[in-house]
Amino acid sequence: MTFKTVCLTLLSVIFAAFISTQLLPNPPCIKDFINLAFTSFSPSIISTLSIYNILDHHQHNHHHHHHGPKGPQSGSLICDDFPPDFPPPDTNTISNLCVDSNGCCNFTTVQSAIDAAGVFSQKRTIIWMTPGIYYEKVMVPKTWPNITLQGQGMEFTAIVWNDTANSSHGTFYSASIQVFSANFIAKNISFMNVAPIANPGDFGGQAVAMRIGGDQAAFWGCGFFGGQDTLHDDKGRHYFRDCFIQGSIDFIFGNARSLYENCQLISIANPVPVGSKTITGVVTAHGRTSATENTGFVFVNCSIGGTGRIWLGRAWKPFSRVIFAYTSMTEIISPEGWSDYNDPTRDQYCPKLSTSLLSFLLENTKIALWI
Ligand SMILES: *[C@@H]1O[C@H](CO)[C@@H](O)[C@H](O)[C@H]1NC(C)=O
Ligand SMILES: *[C@@H]1O[C@H](CO)[C@@H](O)[C@H](O)[C@H]1NC(C)=O
Ligand SMILES: *[C@@H]1O[C@H](CO)[C@@H](O)[C@H](O)[C@H]1NC(C)=O
Ligand SMILES: *[C@@H]1O[C@H](CO)[C@@H](O)[C@H](O)[C@H]1NC(C)=O
Ligand SMILES: *[C@@H]1O[C@H](CO)[C@@H](O)[C@H](O)[C@H]1NC(C)=O
Ligand SMILES: *[C@@H]1O[C@H](CO)[C@@H](O)[C@H](O)[C@H]1NC(C)=O
Repeated sequence: MTFKTVCLTLLSVIFAAFISTQLLPNPPCIKDFINLAFTSFSPSIISTLSIYNILDHHQHNHHHHHHGPKGPQSGSLICDDFPPDFPPPDTNTISNLCVDSNGCCNFTTVQSAIDAAGVFSQKRTIIWMTPGIYYEKVMVPKTWPNITLQGQGMEFTAIVWNDTANSSHGTFYSASIQVFSANFIAKNISFMNVAPIANPGDFGGQAVAMRIGGDQAAFWGCGFFGGQDTLHDDKGRHYFRDCFIQGSIDFIFGNARSLYENCQLISIANPVPVGSKTITGVVTAHGRTSATENTGFVFVNCSIGGTGRIWLGRAWKPFSRVIFAYTSMTEIISPEGWSDYNDPTRDQYCPKLSTSLLSFLLENTKIALWI
């Protein structure tokens, strides 16, 4: 398969059907997760929700016959239909830049737009990405805060690369996009790693789509596509809403303090014959290393489906914490649910899920959304 075919194949998984049925019996304790409620989340990260839709906008201006803005191919037919006043003008608090792979606006690559945003920018830079697949490996360094990537829908705009642990000096460097800066936001865009999907036990085939290592990041309506280790939720406080996350083994991993709401988690782990007890995949591998860390993954109102026979999580480090609340799951989840990596000291379940604690979590979730 060519690079593009692989990519389209992965995109089509968006439409994979899955049935949500039973809740997991005996979910782990959520007492320790109250602090995960994100009450300290800064307002700036949840603001700037106004949507500028290039496609709608285009239709409104269709009959004006303006010429496209300046760009490498300005004047050529391909840009004639490009909205004339795009990107929107800068304001006191926001710089707007635009990326279009056909060269119809400021930049043709995402990286060049990020580079233009500038070191230690106190303004938010919104990088508008037109529909298309951007084949590039992207890096947002720590000194580049306040970047927003705004796509046109996770089915239409994607950043795609194909590094593996082998090809990039280790899993941590294999991501198609690595973000180390604070206040990063992504909306309506997909991040993909289209390297060949590793089989259980393979060496060096881990292939990360997104590594998010900056504090206070938010993802709205984003897709994450890969096999083993798709989403490296590395460190910092992160919020994921209405996202689609696909993978096989440990496909959400890292030591971040994250809340996932209304997300679809889709396993593409190898199917197993009926009756087989073989495990072929794992949703999460959280990496909390000590009892003093306030990290953990919380999933609320999510769904888990897809293929294989999988665990909800395995305790990658001694104090891993993961919660699934109000999350539907298909029968692909193996009844034991979790794995302690053969280290019983990592089993520290609290006995029962308390309803009052759960409502506390949900209340605070609402608070976070209304900030
Ligand atoms: C981006 O393009 C817009 C519209 O052509 C223009 O006004 C703006 O100055 C450009 N910005 C940069 C940084 O090139
Ligand atoms: C930009 O980032 C800095 C931290 O790096 C933060 O203090 C500031 O509030 C941010 N500005 C905006 C507009 O988000
Ligand atoms: C990534 O794709 C390119 C182009 O198809 C190919 O040459 C390269 O070997 C691939 N890399 C990996 C690690 O699969
Ligand atoms: C994402 O796109 C959908 C339509 O495709 C739109 O309804 C929604 O408002 C967009 N959301 C964001 C955060 O861009
Ligand atoms: C990674 O490299 C090792 C050693 O060269 C090799 O045995 C392994 O098959 C490679 N893995 C992949 C997925 O290419
Ligand atoms: C739960 O998520 C689904 C989409 O996955 C959404 O339609 C529904 O409104 C969410 N429920 C709540 C209470 O947010």
